[in-house]
Amino acid sequence: MHANDSDLEPSSVIDVHDFGEAMFSAITSRHSVSPKALQAPGPSDEQLQRLIEVAACAPDHGLLRPWRFILFPEDKRPVLADLFEEALLERHSQATEEDRLRAREKAARAPLLLGVVVHIDKEDEKVAFEDQIASAGAALQNVLLQVHAFGFGARATSGRAVRTNAFRKALNLHEDEVFLCFLAIGTATRKAKTKERPDPKSLLTSWP
Ligand SMILES: Cc1cc2nc3c(=O)[nH]c(=O)nc-3n(C[C@H](O)[C@H](O)[C@H](O)COP(=O)(O)O)c2cc1C
Repeated sequence: MHANDSDLEPSSVIDVHDFGEAMFSAITSRHSVSPKALQAPGPSDEQLQRLIEVAACAPDHGLLRPWRFILFPEDKRPVLADLFEEALLERHSQATEEDRLRAREKAARAPLLLGVVVHIDKEDEKVAFEDQIASAGAALQNVLLQVHAFGFGARATSGRAVRTNAFRKALNLHEDEVFLCFLAIGTATRKAKTKERPDPKSLLTSWP
């Protein structure tokens, strides 16, 4: 669908049955790929813009736009590696050389590395904070699905470093902001591990 056609119903662009089946296949065939198995090439600048464009289509109670993305460019990864090491030492001052190296290595993974940040306003009287976090989750999933549709692999990872003072300070996070996760994106060097999904029957009940 062309960007200018966004006000058109999908059925007026492609057959509604095909659209439904294509969407079902896209969603059910997506599986996360370990950041260790993500190499260049990653998405182009144009594709990155589109990833943010699909994120912006997430449902968003009150149109708060309570989330944003941060790009960690490849030439700044050594700085991120320093930060991961610092974050590790904040949590474990006695970390071994091996632990430090392992923490540093994470910064080099995946050609495209994004961070997802949610601004959580617990004082908002109209929009519950759960709604705000759910909006970020929906934005994240939109990106994961578009990445998959572009033919790349990806995985969301949070980890403990993101909650350290060192990390929060280096990213200049507002006190109401939470670093939800990294999104590592690139060309998968091995097939994504498929996971068995729960039986839909176990996830749906009828009320009362
Ligand atoms: C916000 C968020 C943070 C996550 N953080 C981690 C993490 O730190 N480590 C991890 O192994 N999986 C993490 N996951 C889960 C994986 O990204 C992935 O969804 C999971 O392994 C299931 O795989 P699937 O996406 O193929 O269903 C996180 C998921 C989300 C949504």
